[in-house]
Amino acid sequence: MKHNEAGFGSKIGVIAATVGSAVGLGNIWRFPSVVQSNGGSAFLLVYLGCVLLLGIPVMLAEFSLGRAGHSDAVGVMKNLTPGKKWWILGVFGLLSSYLILQFYMVVAGWSTEYLYQSITGGLFEGVNFDADAAGNSEVFTRQMNDFITSPTQPVIWTNVMIILNLVILLRGVQKGIEKLSNVLMPLLFVLLLVFCGISLSLPGAGEGVEFFLKPDFSKVTPGVVISALGQAFFSLSLGMGILVTYASYFPKDTMMTRTAVTVSLSDFGVAFLMGLIIFPAVMSFGLNDNPGGLAGTTLVFVTLPGIFTQMPCSQLWAILFFLLLFVATITSTVSIAEVSIAFLRDRFGMKRSNACLVILLPLFVTSAICSLSLGAVPELQVLGLSMFDFLDSLTTNFLLPVSAIGLCVYVGWVLHRDFIKDELTNYGTFRSRVAPVVQFLVKYVCPWLIAAILVSQIINLLEA
Ligand code: PFF
Repeated sequence: MKHNEAGFGSKIGVIAATVGSAVGLGNIWRFPSVVQSNGGSAFLLVYLGCVLLLGIPVMLAEFSLGRAGHSDAVGVMKNLTPGKKWWILGVFGLLSSYLILQFYMVVAGWSTEYLYQSITGGLFEGVNFDADAAGNSEVFTRQMNDFITSPTQPVIWTNVMIILNLVILLRGVQKGIEKLSNVLMPLLFVLLLVFCGISLSLPGAGEGVEFFLKPDFSKVTPGVVISALGQAFFSLSLGMGILVTYASYFPKDTMMTRTAVTVSLSDFGVAFLMGLIIFPAVMSFGLNDNPGGLAGTTLVFVTLPGIFTQMPCSQLWAILFFLLLFVATITSTVSIAEVSIAFLRDRFGMKRSNACLVILLPLFVTSAICSLSLGAVPELQVLGLSMFDFLDSLTTNFLLPVSAIGLCVYVGWVLHRDFIKDELTNYGTFRSRVAPVVQFLVKYVCPWLIAAILVSQIINLLEA
């Protein structure tokens, strides 16, 4: 069954919503720590290579599937290869996206609480503004740990985020997701540029820029390449049915290649700007010696607030930064949830309102479990990991790559030979020199590269 949801209404809406999905915790939270743990500048070019070589082709495969199949992540395979079992691939993506939603919503809740605390000034309670940036890390670390491990606060804020998602998703694709993204994404870019300007003008910023940008190829190891591939994947929202679902809302005349390149490079651009914000600031304030200071959670909730205390108008910068984080997360959570909502609507003919409730209401319990597993109820463990970390590793390290390999095999080997070419040329309306290259990459290159990530993850896991 094809869906009858009014899709995106404009070209700008297509770009804003898809960039909104891609830009999220992956760029702000994960990217700086992955750069740091992979030797800085060695990582960046390899990452760009992965975005171009892997990200764009797989994104185009997902776009093609979604627009041609014009249905949810499972329905596209049912429509394109009726009577065959390929729809199971879609179930994989669907499952991954729903599992990701469980813990992503928790972090989204944290960013909302920190935005609230910045506005009320609670974030800076007990802080000594005369100390240096590192001087307050104890206060911020205690604050963060108390918050994350509290049995109530993070659950309440996760619930606030679930309700906000519900409000947006109930309004539908055009009036909810598209409108939200059209307003928030330009705001996000403006905020990023403001932070970038400030960071680059700090004394000693050059050292940070050098760490981030001066290529040092001696540090490129297989591990760096694998991390870059995984990061590209996570950041571009690949392998989860998100882009398949969004593409099913694309107008028929959407220029797929241009859209994929714009989305991928914008996503890369945000990560790049984030690097230009973080590393100069961290070096300038002498926080580079703290090895844990660039790990995602600490970076956002301890290191950056420490830096804000050193700047005039600390509270304003905190508000703007957590607003940025909030914008990035909410445009991603709606995209992750939309995969399951589209599935219920198309497969079971549910009304949007019912589908939204069926998908989001259970999160009040399941996301709470993820949140509590981080400290308040440490018994909530699977295989020695907190529920939160278990879901994170299972999806990012295993389900996503498996589903993306399947997707490439499906598009490259199962569908008819010219499937991608037809889609990329809008069914022969114009010529495309890129189409054969993409077809080649999806068929012969991407599945192997992604399989390499997967095998390395499994080896890492077995060794750990
Ligand atoms: N791409 C977004 C991000 O980088 O945060 C959202 C996202 C989707 C993250 C899927 C992770 C993921 F597995």
